[in-house]
Amino acid sequence: MAWQEVLTSEELVEGQGVEVLHEGTVIAVFRHQGLLYAVDGVCMHQGGPLARGKLSGGTVVCPWHGWMYELSTGKNAVTCQKMLNTFLVRERDGKIEIDASS
Ligand code: FES
Repeated sequence: MAWQEVLTSEELVEGQGVEVLHEGTVIAVFRHQGLLYAVDGVCMHQGGPLARGKLSGGTVVCPWHGWMYELSTGKNAVTCQKMLNTFLVRERDGKIEIDASS
């Protein structure tokens, strides 16, 4: 495990994503329905910014053309094909931390 702080807790508001650059990877971090998620931040369709997508029922909807991804699995919500990497994320002592080593 290699937990690294990427945000403070205050920076991650319920229902909104934040894009972070972690060890060269763009990651979208979300607080949704009280849970934390971290997935690849670049849409596999045409590169839309997933951190700016709407959240609904455990999915993020890309703001550019509407592709939907499950936050917990990285799967396309329509095809069920895994398209995004997911990352371990936790909140500790007022910080949001990611382990992108696995
Ligand atoms: S770039 Fe995300 S749906 Fe097209």
